Amino acid sequence: MSRTETSTVAVASQTRAECAVISLSGVTREYSGHAGTVRALDSATFSIVAGEWVAITGPSGSGKSTLVNLLGCLDRPSTGQLTIDGADVSSMAPAELDRFRADKIGFIFQQFHLIPYLTAVENIMLAQYFHSMTDETEARSALDRVGLGARAAHLPSELSGGEQQRVCIARALINNPPILLADEPTGNLDAANQGIVVDLLRGLHNAGHTIVMVTHDPEMAGLASRRIALNHGKVFCHPVGGGPVVRLGR
Ligand SMILES: Nc1ncnc2c1ncn2[C@@H]1O[C@H](COP(=O)(O)OP(=O)(O)OP(=O)(O)O)[C@@H](O)[C@H]1O
Ligand SMILES: [Mg+2]
Repeated sequence: MSRTETSTVAVASQTRAECAVISLSGVTREYSGHAGTVRALDSATFSIVAGEWVAITGPSGSGKSTLVNLLGCLDRPSTGQLTIDGADVSSMAPAELDRFRADKIGFIFQQFHLIPYLTAVENIMLAQYFHSMTDETEARSALDRVGLGARAAHLPSELSGGEQQRVCIARALINNPPILLADEPTGNLDAANQGIVVDLLRGLHNAGHTIVMVTHDPEMAGLASRRIALNHGKVFCHPVGGGPVVRLGR
């Protein structure tokens, strides 16, 4: 039985809300500035179940980064409820949110965000340090798993773009978070390196990780098991198992 079939059976016997690892109920994010108030995310109500691979798509300015910042606990909703892995993060204090983020979320960014003066293995050990304690052997085996064991002592400037992205993936996984958030993970890569990163993401999905991925690339979006489209801050979800786009937010 494939992963999708497995999660469909789970969803059939429980409810999506009960299986949800991420759940939004009426989540709105407004930014107030000198030019007035912008409603960047408007009453978003949807859930993502454990093990899903979801692509978030939409035109520039539609609210993708706003949504990802909320899901990554880098920001909090203006109103509404956001539950991640059973915890209501809408009302968490900043220090509690930092701790929660380190435990629950692995980030893979388009721009990599590696520390330029630390080697590949040290960049991974830094993520261990922020989470709990460093373990060089474990950090090296994380690099082995993305095929970069031989590059552990390289600085980011001594790695190709694709290799840097693989270090990011190893770093995102090192503390074993249940959720991986990827923001245009192949946006800066050539076709060959894109293929390597796609294979890694496929492997992570098959191993049971929940992946939420922002992408402008229809081919990348096609790899996900479900697409959540944004337009002017409104969320449009493709239902599980395909079919026409439906408007959620009831
Ligand atoms: N700090 C802010 N203050 C005011 N408005 C903001 C702020 N951040 C974002 N916005 C506005 O909120 C809306 C959504 O922005 P967001 O960055 O989420 O879009 P996006 O879908 O990620 O776009 P892109 O594809 O260009 O990255 C935009 O209209 C933007 O101008
Ligand atoms: Mg953005």
